[in-house]
Amino acid sequence: MHVGTLYLTKEEERILSGYFGNELAEAMKIIVKVGESLGAESLIPISHAHASGISYKNIGEPGLHWLRKFKGIKVRTFSTFNPIGFDPDKWSLFVDRDFFVKQMEIINILISMGFEKSMTCVPYILRRPKVGEHLAWGESSAIAYANSVLGAFTNREGGPVALAAAIVGRTYYAGLHKLENRVATVEVRLPEINDIAEAGAVGLILGEIIGDKIPYIKGLKKEYVRHLLAAAAASGSLALAVIDGITPHGTFMLDISERIEIDKKDVESLISTLEGDEVIFHGCPHLLDLNEALPCAWNAVPGFLQVKGEKILKGTCFVVMPLEKTRWKKIATTSGKAFFYLRKRGFEVKLVRAEEIKRRCKHMKL
Ligand code: F3S
Repeated sequence: MHVGTLYLTKEEERILSGYFGNELAEAMKIIVKVGESLGAESLIPISHAHASGISYKNIGEPGLHWLRKFKGIKVRTFSTFNPIGFDPDKWSLFVDRDFFVKQMEIINILISMGFEKSMTCVPYILRRPKVGEHLAWGESSAIAYANSVLGAFTNREGGPVALAAAIVGRTYYAGLHKLENRVATVEVRLPEINDIAEAGAVGLILGEIIGDKIPYIKGLKKEYVRHLLAAAAASGSLALAVIDGITPHGTFMLDISERIEIDKKDVESLISTLEGDEVIFHGCPHLLDLNEALPCAWNAVPGFLQVKGEKILKGTCFVVMPLEKTRWKKIATTSGKAFFYLRKRGFEVKLVRAEEIKRRCKHMKL
């Protein structure tokens, strides 16, 4: 059957017609509508859906109301979800009871659907997609990492589309799912990077100047890739960067027609030093390894980890935490992405090198 330009298989057609229930039909309608608007000709099965935008702070009452109808409807693929607005073990430090109850309802709905209790923006440590797998992910930093480092294929999905894709186990076959659209055209020369904050600053600049083109980057060290990509995906619409020596062959093409250079001076202008009275946020994207934690900072880690510590925040994200309720007014962070969004929210925030914070942390225990 064809819906506009889109060809649906018998099974997809049955889902859309309501044969498996109204909820599946509604999810399929979302995928079909987006697919049609992008000129997709078919749908494609996915191996992992990752839902973002599940903080009660972001979706509020209307989002929760919409989500309620999917309670108990089982997902058809491996599914994970993003950090929430607080650490469930420390919620009273950050939110009031009403916020807590509403946020837990959102989580319980997702879990009733078969989502992993992931609460993280690094879902690839729960299940690492193989090269060439198709995904429907909704978290810009994870999407950029999946496409650029893991060689998986995903578009930047909004929360409802990723959720709908989880429910029907498919997404529309368009955009970055097609090799012909994964063509890097701009070679980018980077300044030397020696700290994750510098990687974040470079990423913020790159995201702004690259627009919707795909960059080709040489000489980027592995340990800085996550922070650079997360920042570039925040300040711009980047979803794929071809990184020499890192992006798997066969998942991109090169057709360089433009060369640009990022100036060290512009990077320095985004970085500040500590004054000593700031609250420090570290772990955006979430820390993959506790050895990276900084004792004098609040450290954000995935929600499923079995770790404890006064300064460890599990399953949450500084950017979606309702910080207005805390006494924290002056913020320092090692993350270009957190710097970008917290500044946008009107906080007094600075981007500081992890090395500088480490020196300050030297004699402290986590
Ligand atoms: Fe993750 Fe939140 Fe940063 S979702 S990438 S910790 S803004």
